[in-house]
Amino acid sequence: MRHLIDFGDLSRAEWESLYRRCSDIMDHPADFMDACRGKVMASLFYEPSTRTNFSFQTAMLRVGGTVFGFADPRSSSVAKGETLKDTIKMVSGYADVVVMRNPREGAAKAASLYSDVPIINAGDGGHMHPTQTTADLTTITRLRGGVDGLSVGLCGDLKNGRTVHSLIKALAKFDNVKFYLISPRELAIPAYMRAFMKERDLWNVEVTGLETVIPQLDVLYMTRIQRERFVDPLEYERNKGIYILTRQKLERARKDLLVMHPLPRVDEIAIDVDDDPRAVYFDQARFGMFARMALLTDLANQSRWRPSPVEIGTTPLCSNPNCITQTDPYLPPLVKQNGGVDCCAFCDKELG
Ligand code: NCD
Repeated sequence: MRHLIDFGDLSRAEWESLYRRCSDIMDHPADFMDACRGKVMASLFYEPSTRTNFSFQTAMLRVGGTVFGFADPRSSSVAKGETLKDTIKMVSGYADVVVMRNPREGAAKAASLYSDVPIINAGDGGHMHPTQTTADLTTITRLRGGVDGLSVGLCGDLKNGRTVHSLIKALAKFDNVKFYLISPRELAIPAYMRAFMKERDLWNVEVTGLETVIPQLDVLYMTRIQRERFVDPLEYERNKGIYILTRQKLERARKDLLVMHPLPRVDEIAIDVDDDPRAVYFDQARFGMFARMALLTDLANQSRWRPSPVEIGTTPLCSNPNCITQTDPYLPPLVKQNGGVDCCAFCDKELG
């Protein structure tokens, strides 16, 4: 495991070993306080963040390492027009591990082509967010004892919600997970996620109503309508406030349901749900810090390497306006297969 770009790259065994370490850290934190002693983490946040940024920083401090970086790209040379490639070449010379969040889909993959140290994807546009998934799986495993056989409802903006895409990729590694995809039709999962689920023959139903499926669920994963990702503001206006989980709706749910949310919440979970023992989203945020401690002890202790030269691109192959190749056309024209279809290897969009 050199980088963490997409949760799909991890095998179930690799995840289980990471979880064992995470569990050990939760039970015996003092044993890990020097696990990254002398290591330096770069934290490059090109987009707003509270939990991911703070939990990575506190995770690194708790395993004995140190941290530098920016939480606002306007305070770095990015504001002078520096390319992602150059920023990464520089920063990877100073750090032992780079944590990056970027509004462009495929940015973490792009960074990994030029970095001498591991890149951790802390969110690339509306594409993926694999470290949130480490928090999510830790929460489920710790509180339910395992993931196999669970019925999981994913509710809200499944089109733009990167946490959902990464979580589906992770849950696909377990046995007999049932997926209830709850969203308005225009915010359903993107084509590349549908191809992913179809290729693996994952049990799933797509519905628009939350109330009808709530009694079936072991886990309900609520998400925010991702306002900043909408090209058409009217589409956002049509869909905001569409799902609101209330105490009353929870009356029909199982007694051992886990109500999860990557946070921040806007209005999709009423505040009085917080006191219901099934609401675990604040625990989930804390589990995320331990999961990131486990990840950092694993990744930041690798030796540096020099990446092989990559082809220099000239024009973007991909038509996704949010793809990193649109702003950084020097990236190589990499193609991968998703369910037998040629897709952009950065953002997963089908190539026309
Ligand atoms: C999520 C994100 O940034 O994608 N937040 C997080 O990292 N915990 C979810 C969101 O912003 O809605």
